[in-house]
Amino acid sequence: MEKLQAAIEKARQRREATAAATGKSPAEARSASRAEEPGGDVWQAIPEHTVAAKTARRNRLFLDGRTAEASYFDKLRTKLIQQCRDNQWRRVLVTSATKGCGKTTTCANLAASFARQKDRRVMVFDMDMRRPDLRRPFGISNSHGFSDVLEGSVPFEETAVRLGASVIISANQSVHPNPSQIILQDQTARVIDEIEARYRPDVMLFDTPPMLSADDTLGLVKHMDCAIIVAGAEMSTIAQVDEVERELAEVTNVMGVVLNRCNYIDQAQTYYY
Ligand SMILES: Nc1ncnc2c1ncn2[C@@H]1O[C@H](COP(=O)(O)OP(=O)(O)O)[C@@H](O)[C@H]1O
Ligand SMILES: [Mg+2]
Repeated sequence: MEKLQAAIEKARQRREATAAATGKSPAEARSASRAEEPGGDVWQAIPEHTVAAKTARRNRLFLDGRTAEASYFDKLRTKLIQQCRDNQWRRVLVTSATKGCGKTTTCANLAASFARQKDRRVMVFDMDMRRPDLRRPFGISNSHGFSDVLEGSVPFEETAVRLGASVIISANQSVHPNPSQIILQDQTARVIDEIEARYRPDVMLFDTPPMLSADDTLGLVKHMDCAIIVAGAEMSTIAQVDEVERELAEVTNVMGVVLNRCNYIDQAQTYYY
């Protein structure tokens, strides 16, 4: 990690020097110098993962961009990119009021959508240690998971898989005995910073626990740029979504609400989404 810290510091100094010399804003200088910084070839070092069609289908992961379901996630991806670009946001927390609303399904399908598009580098992290489901739609079975990285016992590379050239996923493999402790520990912020500095993604998506069942997610929010709330139609009440939105808005930017499990929006277009 010390080497990594030194590389981050060196990259920062180089960015500032470039910004001063060219008159560019720090954000412009950052993207201009991206090719020289950590983040280039490190992506290639992550093993590529192929998702079995049957696994995807069983878990509502829509890999084929020509389907109506996939097109909904492509639209969500476009909105997410626009908002991240306009506001210079990178870290996006995905949460809901209660479990089962579709956070993991949304994160997984956004990952698939970004993998189809290829021009944005996106990392997806499983931060729901109580129901670590992100591995399921992709059929990821590594020996270690993202919670091991947060604990400092395993290097990130041992948990991560790459979907195409532009998406990296770090899932969990099992329920963690002490989820709150691991999310709320100081080290978590440092690990996220280090991964961001090393891989230089355009977007980082965090699949998190539901807000109304534990305080983990609120503890994590301070390290995020914005949040998406997934509401399950006929599961989440308006009062619940309001409460989650209010709590989040006090500490971060609420990007929007995704309505999932909605059977009645337009029967001609889609059944599920
Ligand atoms: N739109 C939908 N229609 C039907 N089932 C869905 C839909 N979205 C998700 N599911 C299913 O509901 C279950 C819970 O979804 P999940 O994404 O794991 O929720 P969360 O992560 O919020 O707990 C999963 O079995 C998933 O396949
Ligand atoms: Mg989940």
